[in-house]
Amino acid sequence: MAVLVTGGAGFIGSHTAVELIQNGYEIVILDNFSNSKPCVLDRIRTISGGDFAFEQVDLLDREGVENVFKKYSIDSVIHFAGLKAVGESVSMPIRYYHNNITGTLILCEMMQKYGAKRMIFSSSATVYGTPKSVPIREDFPLSTTNPYGETKLMIERILSDLVVSDGEFSISCLRYFNPIGAHKSGLIGEDPKGIPNNLMPYICKVASGQLHHLGVFGNDYDTPDGTGVRDYIHVVDLARAHIAALREAETRQGIDYFNIGTGRGYSVLEMVKAYEKASGLPVPYEITARRPGDIGECYADPSKSERVLGWKAEYDLDTMCKDAYNWQKNNPNGYEE
Ligand code: NAD
Ligand code: UD1
Repeated sequence: MAVLVTGGAGFIGSHTAVELIQNGYEIVILDNFSNSKPCVLDRIRTISGGDFAFEQVDLLDREGVENVFKKYSIDSVIHFAGLKAVGESVSMPIRYYHNNITGTLILCEMMQKYGAKRMIFSSSATVYGTPKSVPIREDFPLSTTNPYGETKLMIERILSDLVVSDGEFSISCLRYFNPIGAHKSGLIGEDPKGIPNNLMPYICKVASGQLHHLGVFGNDYDTPDGTGVRDYIHVVDLARAHIAALREAETRQGIDYFNIGTGRGYSVLEMVKAYEKASGLPVPYEITARRPGDIGECYADPSKSERVLGWKAEYDLDTMCKDAYNWQKNNPNGYEE
């Protein structure tokens, strides 16, 4: 039996594919390369020392997706495929709703039809909206502030209705906090298109001289140094969480929700300092206005994941920064082919 990894050529999917292969899973990667490059597949093979099947299919292509389920014996799905840029989701809501929601509906339909009833879904801490307090627990109220976040929340609700209608399903929604870093080999990492929106890839490009300076979005938040605090997690720790979630989902039916973070928040200025230390390079910055929609503090209470999944983040901030730097140094232009 195989695990279908949708979006497996992407940032988190590629790191998870490596972990899956190294843990002896047979996997099939499905991706349409809308936000990734084919060369990542060979790099996954090189790092893992194993092989896998690949299908270039768009989740919106019902026949294409059905053919994948016909061709392989799939019993579980790790569902990463989706569009994820918050700003873009505001300017292209229909594209985001269609890709993320319709894509998931087609996937669920085929999972039910072909009896593959286990799913690990990539949700996000964005479903907590503006949290009432930190650290954030899984039972906190849910809300969103943009179409991207709305697609994550809607998919969680769709999956929850699905398990009510069909008790054979076993689903876990992993709510990721802020994944950063890269595989220690320096062969796979985050490769945003154009100017990065997120902090860590932006810092990497400033330190390497590709961007002039970092704009720090506000220093008047109610945080120790006034800048935004987030729960950064090493992408390899995050990848490992999927193996733990897959194993746990095998032991029960129904749906459950897990925070995947370290439980420790770092401010923007702490991130700048940590990257400077890890890389030995300066990261010039200027304080600018707050980014609309940003919150001051966001970090996880990951104790449920530790208790139920037996998973805990292991890598510290210095390792996250060193691995991000190593990836940036070896691939200054990402997966340029
Ligand atoms: P990514 O863009 O690197 O990977 C997503 C992959 O899905 C890409 O390879 C893309 O080509 C593919 N894809 C998109 N739409 C598709 C479709 N219709 N059919 C087939 N393939 C499709 O993103 P990532 O950072 O690896 O994130 C993976 C998942 O985790 C996403 O669902 C994202 O929303 C979620 N997530 C990411 C973060 C983060 O900060 N990176 C945080 C929380 C949640
Ligand atoms: C972003 C997404 C969120 C997603 C999360 C995890 C937005 C608006 N939100 O949030 O939906 O769940 O990633 O992937 O994109 N910062 C700067 N300068 C920059 C970039 C960021 O100061 O150039 C600050 C931000 O204000 C924030 C912190 O750095 O305080 C982290 O920002 P970012 O990496 O974009 O992540 P989130 O804001 O958590």
